[in-house]
Amino acid sequence: RSLKAYNTFGVDVSAKYFVEVSSVEELIEIFKNAPTQKRSNSKTLFLGGGSNILLTKDFDGLVIQLNLKGISEEIVNENEVLVTSQAGENWHEFVAYCLNKNYGGLENLSLIPGNVGTSPMQNIGAYGTEIKDTFVRCKVLNLETLEVEEFDHEKCNFGYRESIFKREGNGKYVILEVTFKLTRKEHLIKTEYGAIQSELANLGIENPTIQEVSKAVINIRQSKLPDPKVLGNAGSFFKNPTIALSQFEELKEKFSTIPGYPNGDFVKVPAGWLIEQCGWKGKQIGNVASHELQSLVIVNKTGNASGKEIFDFSTMIIESVKEKFGIELEREVNII
Ligand code: EPU
Repeated sequence: RSLKAYNTFGVDVSAKYFVEVSSVEELIEIFKNAPTQKRSNSKTLFLGGGSNILLTKDFDGLVIQLNLKGISEEIVNENEVLVTSQAGENWHEFVAYCLNKNYGGLENLSLIPGNVGTSPMQNIGAYGTEIKDTFVRCKVLNLETLEVEEFDHEKCNFGYRESIFKREGNGKYVILEVTFKLTRKEHLIKTEYGAIQSELANLGIENPTIQEVSKAVINIRQSKLPDPKVLGNAGSFFKNPTIALSQFEELKEKFSTIPGYPNGDFVKVPAGWLIEQCGWKGKQIGNVASHELQSLVIVNKTGNASGKEIFDFSTMIIESVKEKFGIELEREVNII
């Protein structure tokens, strides 16, 4: 089965086995009948929206497309509601559903590709918000015991583009549903992120509603992030690196315009800037390029790129940034 339609890079690799599941019972059934080795990470791949993976070769195992659907709500009090979405719901459609009901908390995360079920894995974030800010719990299937377990906020151990599901829990659990606590009235409007402020100013909006914040975010994303339906990509390919304040100060002497967001003894540096300074912005090699409007995004420029080509391109970027700045970029996308 070709996986081209199941990953946003549009890489054409195939899976030995492929199955689509639409209920937890079906999923458990598959594993009950499978030899234990199939449960291990290397033989099974769970696909959500396919928006944060790079498939570098044919997959010699079972690919499971999680299609669990449904959204439910539980009013907590006048100002709070718990909204639970099944893993297979499209993330942006879920955000739109909440905005439509005037539930606040996810508006800054508008238009992020992927499904709700994969959002906790890398604690998706944008424009001053991460899902950890509204996340309450998720239900997962433990692949060793085939029992459904609940993970609360603490157990997920969220960090910047990180969670237990990317570290110790990698390959051990399948996220089935996620619950968020959202506001019904007293919305917390987050507009500290510079780009949002300027977009709201462009739109002539002073006291934005959550729907207007969403609109601003959508405008910003559409103005510089490529639509995966048009140009294959997986969003930011690398994490923004965090370096020691002392290293940042040394770099500042040599590269006076280097941007940085200080945090205690550390500074987060935008990887997009480092990559652009190395001359990669818009640069194409073979079928692959760094996006011309956001160099942190690697694109399948011709539509015919192989996963290996994209991977090799990313290695070249890592090497040149390392050479120029002494900073080692870390890939954010999951490499399979
Ligand atoms: N920059 C450049 N050149 C570039 C790109 C960026 O100089 O080609 C510099 C600019 O100075 C800019 C700064 O980088 O001010 C930050 O750029 P931007 O606001 O586009 O954000 P980012 O740090 O590149 C991160 C997330 C994005 C998220 C945006 C907005 C990561 C790895 N990426 O990007 O997330 O949408 O902030 O919050 O943290 C994703 O994870 O897939 C993703 C798109």
